Amino acid sequence: MMLIKDQWYVACPSSQLSDTEPTAIQIGSDFYVAFRDHKHEAHILLDRCCHRGVKLSLGNLRNGCIACGYHGWEYNGNGKLVSVPSLGAESSVPGYSVPSFPTIEKYQYVWIWVAGEQAEPNHEPVLRGVDSGSWIQQSAIWNTHVMPAVENQLDVAHTAFAHPGIYPTHRTSPGEIPTLRKADYICEIDHKSVLVVGTPVGSDIPDVLPTPEHPGSGFGLFELPYRNYVFLENEGVRAIYNWVPLSASSCRLEFLMRSKESDALVFNFQHGELELLSQDRILLESAQHWFGQGIETYEKSVLPDGAPLAARKLVKSLLDGSVCGHEEKRRITYSAFA
Ligand code: FES
Ligand SMILES: [Fe+2]
Repeated sequence: MMLIKDQWYVACPSSQLSDTEPTAIQIGSDFYVAFRDHKHEAHILLDRCCHRGVKLSLGNLRNGCIACGYHGWEYNGNGKLVSVPSLGAESSVPGYSVPSFPTIEKYQYVWIWVAGEQAEPNHEPVLRGVDSGSWIQQSAIWNTHVMPAVENQLDVAHTAFAHPGIYPTHRTSPGEIPTLRKADYICEIDHKSVLVVGTPVGSDIPDVLPTPEHPGSGFGLFELPYRNYVFLENEGVRAIYNWVPLSASSCRLEFLMRSKESDALVFNFQHGELELLSQDRILLESAQHWFGQGIETYEKSVLPDGAPLAARKLVKSLLDGSVCGHEEKRRITYSAFA
């Protein structure tokens, strides 16, 4: 599983990390173990004991260190071996270690740096538009390749049909045929983001397009590495999707949504999952079978698919190293649903 490198990924929500038990974490096809030391600081090591390769996440925490479950070798937060019980107290501990990774805790998440050319982080993780309101957090595994999940959040044509009665801009009564909101769309693309904004038909394109810091009436935004923002300011909805690729057919969603009492409709839960999310997940998982056999065999597109396709192209160019030369912003506009 290829990952966009030199980026921070969500290892896990802060609430999932304890100082009593290790937490197993997967990012792409790599396995890590995370734990808190006695100062409550988060650490992430490769999930592989350097003695016989057993997963450290099967072990336990002792004195702020992680102890392997096989022969009890202990490692500190930097991955340095600090105890080998079989050598007895008199012998010195060999200078072995397991790899450790840059870790930071921010926005109620523990983040891990996935290095490419930059062994050490050259920036901090940034989630934009997170205000001091109350935010709900969910984690879920989706059995789909990460890209359909990313593209779905930029897909302006699906909401009326996939989320009838829920999606704030398309609240229809049961039995009513969903209608799409007639709008002009501006899609702005550069070498690390795709922004899609709807404007009422016939109105002028605003000089300054929205950002998470200045959201205007709302937008969809894709940012590196695999992050979507869906802000619908008129409805009070702000959702941030951090996707972590796991395999060619699975990814992990780390979801944050600003919660307001007025959002009762959006906050329907189905078996512990937000209904809004389960609707997308079920649809996308149903396509994975064909996606895995090659999308070129069946996939056809139309103009309003512009933003999802732009994100796909951007990610593809980053992965195959052809980093697109579009440092400057390019714009596609289209009218939809006339
Ligand atoms: S395999 Fe971990 S201590 Fe032996
Ligand atoms: Fe959706």
